[in-house]
Amino acid sequence: MKKIIIANWKMNPQSLKEAKRIAGEIKTKAIICPPFVYLAELSAKFKKMSFGVQDLFWENPPAGGAYTGEISAAMAKNIGAKYAIIGHSERRELGDTDEIINKKIKTALKNGLKVIFCIGEKERDSEGEYLNFIKDQINEGLKGIPRKLLTNLIIVYEPVWAISSHKSTKADNPESALRTAIFIRRMLLPIAGDQLARQIPIIYGGSVDVKNAEQFLKEGGIQGLLVGSQSLIPKNFNEILKIANKIK
Ligand code: PGA
Repeated sequence: MKKIIIANWKMNPQSLKEAKRIAGEIKTKAIICPPFVYLAELSAKFKKMSFGVQDLFWENPPAGGAYTGEISAAMAKNIGAKYAIIGHSERRELGDTDEIINKKIKTALKNGLKVIFCIGEKERDSEGEYLNFIKDQINEGLKGIPRKLLTNLIIVYEPVWAISSHKSTKADNPESALRTAIFIRRMLLPIAGDQLARQIPIIYGGSVDVKNAEQFLKEGGIQGLLVGSQSLIPKNFNEILKIANKIK
């Protein structure tokens, strides 16, 4: 299966001009999640790319929406988004609970978006307590979602301590990502059923760069990567895409 490579631009860059430059320099197909304000223009201009939002609101009112400042799943879809990142740790930090994330995932899936569902522990402990934390995030986040909608789910294992903006600034290692990916897949069994639990892509995020991408993809037991800071540097992101496209 082709590896899934997702660019999470976060709150960058600061102008549409710069956003167009970065997107224009990406050579192969990837999933780009720019800030919402750039999405319409980028998706119209760069047709060979896929686009996603970095968050959305949990309510999707049929007519009118008294939710000042929020963006609905339908709006995202109508301007060219195919994907939605939901549950990113930076959104959780700003108040998204498991319950809110569950509602957002439901809304996104019902509106035909593919969900990039982020989970991951804040701290790694040697007793394996972090696995319980991840287990709760999965169970709560996917609660009550019909199995048939889960075909549009991608899970990102992104330990918070491994994100490049975090003070520790170091990636997880492929062996431990592999162990966690196996654990996550096992957790999916009762939720998604045997067949689907095997098919849902599990990808890794957290300080992915040109140096570690290949090892994660080959030895991490994962089907792709979520790339933050390095996705804003086209030269490096292109290199990561090249590495991924070589691995089957
Ligand atoms: P990073 O960010 O690649 O800069 O660590 C990844 C993310 O937070 O999605």
